[in-house]
Amino acid sequence: GPAVAELVAGRVLDVPDFPKPGIVFKDLMPLFADGAVFREVVDGIIAHHGRESFDVVAGIEARGFVVAAAIAYATGVGVVPVRKAGKLPRATHSASYALEYGEATLEVHQDAFTAGHRVLVVDDVLATGGTAGATLDLVERAGGTVSGFTVLLELAFLGGRERLAPRPVHALLTV
Ligand code: PRP
Ligand code: MG
Repeated sequence: GPAVAELVAGRVLDVPDFPKPGIVFKDLMPLFADGAVFREVVDGIIAHHGRESFDVVAGIEARGFVVAAAIAYATGVGVVPVRKAGKLPRATHSASYALEYGEATLEVHQDAFTAGHRVLVVDDVLATGGTAGATLDLVERAGGTVSGFTVLLELAFLGGRERLAPRPVHALLTV
């Protein structure tokens, strides 16, 4: 609800011209570093989705890992890391995408998901949706079903939500 949105709003730092000129980087490290706020935020995400609505969470490297692991621990489900290229040791699926700044490739182990399991995809920020869209592709190719996306912060003007439609996207704070 609005209380959790305020917590996010008060713990996000705008960093101009990072990682390159013209980009305003949204730094959520102050939120992660505040134990009481981090717990409120994670509990808020779980309350929104309901702990029976997913079988596993997928966390997107790197900042998605922080939130995904907390959700997994609190709900007793497993966590699957979606990693940047070249980090996973066994057979992977791979998806490339254009980021707000540059290009990147994400990978997931081919056997990461039990067939038909409902996967909640977790990241810190939704911007253009390139990262989340590539993750959707990877989860489906690895046999999972995306139940929804959850982020702390959505930059609505970049259109990520539309790119993921009709799958549900939840953001604690939308700017
Ligand atoms: C940032 C952020 C999201 C992504 C959102 O990650 O953490 O994962 O960008 O952008 P998009 O919706 O336009 O794809 P980044 O690629 O900077 O890497 P990091 O999480 O490893 O810092
Ligand atoms: Mg990221």
